[in-house]
Amino acid sequence: MKIAMGSDHGGFRLKNEIKAMLESMGHEVEDYGCTCADSVDYPDYALEACERVASGDADRGILICGTGIGMSIAANKIPGIRCALVHDMFSAKATREHNDTNVLAMGERVVGPGLAQEIVKIWVETPFSGEPRHEGRIRKLKAIEDRFTVHP
Ligand code: RB5
Repeated sequence: MKIAMGSDHGGFRLKNEIKAMLESMGHEVEDYGCTCADSVDYPDYALEACERVASGDADRGILICGTGIGMSIAANKIPGIRCALVHDMFSAKATREHNDTNVLAMGERVVGPGLAQEIVKIWVETPFSGEPRHEGRIRKLKAIEDRFTVHP
């Protein structure tokens, strides 16, 4: 799987740990920064990584900031992105099965590295259930997005 990653300074350390784990699992990681612990703005990094997912150039995205909240808000403003902020293993599985999320957000100041790794493994490996009720709800999400998207 090709996975686009992004973080701000609040998620920089965990991003590097998750990146190393994904690479050791055989995934290809595109790292859109940040590249050091200096203060930066999370929307810039969410946008870079999510553009790759929305365009289909990357299969999934993983975003990390201090809480994961700013990253998830930014990601969900991008058409085609369904981002879940997840800090437990149950939600990691459920959001893949039910919401077919293509971006995962986490907060380095919320979750420890061990739990974060388990969350990522589950989220990456769990397929969408494909159940009609979930398909229908995702179509409704798309309809909301389309209603508020200005087409040139
Ligand atoms: C940065 O201090 C922090 O606000 C950011 O990492 C994130 O938690 C925002 O939602």
